Amino acid sequence: MRCDVLTLFPDFISGAMSQSIVKRAQDKGFLCLHVHNLRDYTDDPHRMADDAPYGGGGGMVMKAAPVFQAIDALREEEKDVRIIIPSPQGRPFTQKTAEAFSQDTRTLVFLCGHYEGIDERVHLGLSAEEWSIGDYVLTGGELPALVMIDAAVRLIPGVLGDPLSALQDSFTEPLLDFPHFTRPEGIRGLRVPPILLSGNHEAIRRWRRKEALRNTYMKRPDLLQDRLLSQEDQRLLNEILQDGPFTPGLAQTQEEPS
Ligand code: ADE
Repeated sequence: MRCDVLTLFPDFISGAMSQSIVKRAQDKGFLCLHVHNLRDYTDDPHRMADDAPYGGGGGMVMKAAPVFQAIDALREEEKDVRIIIPSPQGRPFTQKTAEAFSQDTRTLVFLCGHYEGIDERVHLGLSAEEWSIGDYVLTGGELPALVMIDAAVRLIPGVLGDPLSALQDSFTEPLLDFPHFTRPEGIRGLRVPPILLSGNHEAIRRWRRKEALRNTYMKRPDLLQDRLLSQEDQRLLNEILQDGPFTPGLAQTQEEPS
């Protein structure tokens, strides 16, 4: 997967992308990331990439020329580009979008706006898509671009150590994840559910399915609405309803014997 990020704050992107799994994904060649400073595509000696809005009013607007020049330069190198503008006005970015991005063979170009926005002629002149990561307004497109790249990269086969973990994610199917535990067996009076120590794989699978359903029922009941459940899921959900309310995340943990 090749991603190019056009930004006024290249260190923001490079810094975040030089950590953890996305860093390893680059080292192993799953992600080829190019970060471009839009100021490098300005003509004026002050490298100004923004200017006051026509019509007056506060704030600054990102100039069209540096963006057009950066995209032109990129197109010389990469013929097949998909231009993505993070924007609160865009379509909602979901797990499905992340999957589509991760499978796209085109170069994904993230154009990060800042200040009041980007000169509208950029939107008109480039056939770009706008995507939003949520109904709130951030200071710029860098964080949303990082979110989208991260969500897509981890879906590339081989990026995650365990290929099953992406499949088990919340939202891969519209169900939240089950709770996870690691050593020690007991901490602060809370124990790992004994079934996870039983070695009984079928019982563990069933427990995880039930806890995923319980999590979804308690935290995001909307995801279960209008959903056709398998016979097993329906049975597990009936059991959950009979179990009564639990503290989310601590379901079935027991007090350590004192
Ligand atoms: N830029 C500013 N806010 C944003 C959001 N919520 N999603 C995508 N891009 C943005």
